[in-house]
Amino acid sequence: MDKIAVLDFGGQYTQLIARRIRELNVYSEIFSCHHPLEEILRGGYKGIVLSGGPSSVYEDGAPLPPKKLFEAGIPILGICYGMQAMAYLLGGHVIQAERREYGRAELQLDGSAGLLDGVRPETGNRITVWMSHGDTVLRAPKGFVAIASTENCPVAAMADPQRHLYAVQFHPEVVHTSQGKTIFQNFLAQCEANPTWSMASFIDSAVDGIRQKVGSNRVLCALSGGVDSAVTAVLVHRAVGDQLTCVFVDNGVLRKGEAVSVVHTFRDHFKLNLVHVDASRRFLQQLRGVADPELKRKRIGAEFIAVFEEEARKLGSIPWLAQGTLYPDVIESVSFRGPSATIKTHHNVGGLPSIMQFKLIEPLRELFKDEVRQLGELLGLPPEIVWRQPFPGPGLAIRILGEVTSDRLELLREADAIVQEEVRRAGLERELWQAFAVLLPVRTVGVMGDFRTYAEVIALRAVMSQDAMTADWARLPYELLGRISSRIINEVKGVNRVVFDISSKPPSTIEWE
Ligand code: XMP
Repeated sequence: MDKIAVLDFGGQYTQLIARRIRELNVYSEIFSCHHPLEEILRGGYKGIVLSGGPSSVYEDGAPLPPKKLFEAGIPILGICYGMQAMAYLLGGHVIQAERREYGRAELQLDGSAGLLDGVRPETGNRITVWMSHGDTVLRAPKGFVAIASTENCPVAAMADPQRHLYAVQFHPEVVHTSQGKTIFQNFLAQCEANPTWSMASFIDSAVDGIRQKVGSNRVLCALSGGVDSAVTAVLVHRAVGDQLTCVFVDNGVLRKGEAVSVVHTFRDHFKLNLVHVDASRRFLQQLRGVADPELKRKRIGAEFIAVFEEEARKLGSIPWLAQGTLYPDVIESVSFRGPSATIKTHHNVGGLPSIMQFKLIEPLRELFKDEVRQLGELLGLPPEIVWRQPFPGPGLAIRILGEVTSDRLELLREADAIVQEEVRRAGLERELWQAFAVLLPVRTVGVMGDFRTYAEVIALRAVMSQDAMTADWARLPYELLGRISSRIINEVKGVNRVVFDISSKPPSTIEWE
């Protein structure tokens, strides 16, 4: 299988570069720009992409690849900072810009050199591209030809076809660069990389890999009902069948109907060995009297580990544990920025006991989230699991502000089910990152018939986001808001008011606790 390496210089679009290449059916992997070059060169990559990044080549300690990278004979594509680094190291002239250029720009096509083949002019001899840079290449290094320019950038793309070196100042990986795909295609052709990577071929090789690793041993997997663990379980099941046992812990803070649906899907439909542990009472016991959000997380996390350990012990000795680790989790820890401060420890709730000595199988560790969804569809998982919105490990417990009781859980479950149903009916489920109900710790006055009420308030939260690091509140249609509000107030006993949360992250967070 032909593959491409992407060196990460800390650019915000690095993952997108890898995605675009995979979309063209060539496998690609991201490495930190500090990764030893020899190892990458020995790795059999057909080409290397240098990503963008926030630095200037003139900064102290700017990350620069070793110059010998350009002498290795392997095709290289520099993007944005990657282009500036290439130009600087090979003797071109890079100037520090007085101001950053950000947004759409008109790119004048001045040549092709194999990189811009098949790019069709849109207006005059120009195409629209996406720019986001400070420094600019004023003169290309010796041996290069400038093949495109913009008003602010005399060299917006350059190539030295003889040495197989290519570079663009703009971002072909961003959708606003309308013909970015053609540019990647051209680069892949220069790399002579065959487009043989596909999700179907991924399944075959993952299944083979799991079989070889596991042999005739048993595998354990914790199912949460979320898409990552679901796809992991079904994939491992395809590889080793009944050697796999899944444990699904119902922690009592799941949404309405969730436990039933997990059991139905995996035990009845996929015929997995499924141990369903209804531990709701134990968890509720742990949550009694607890109002502090972090303490709720800690108690739920610890109880999960305790329950899981007990169940695992009952199952006898199982050497392997299958986990749904995804590529973004893996590269967060290897990327240019180093272990990211943005990963919150609380997101590991539901993470598994480190004291248990399992050997790990992580069959999704090379995939992005939407690739996992594609894989899930290919494996025949139902859309409600494949397209499920993220749901926190501590579940509804962090959406009931204040103490969690079974009455309040019941009330929130009903209100949340209405939100889910209406959002789905409005066709917005996939567009929204998350939409859910929150039960507030205040009561307000209302009037129903001739009676004054003093009852609960539900807050509706709906956000758009790419990665949960930032999020914007979703501008839900008024009609939908109205329907959700009147259904909750009419159908959920004990609620007399619904409010809509119009805060973005930052400074608010997505969850209320
Ligand atoms: P916040 O509230 O920090 O949430 O903006 C960002 C994303 O993470 C989810 N989230 C959690 N997931 N355990 C989880 O597994 C947690 O403790 C937790 N807290 C928040 C949240 O739903 C959102 O998608």
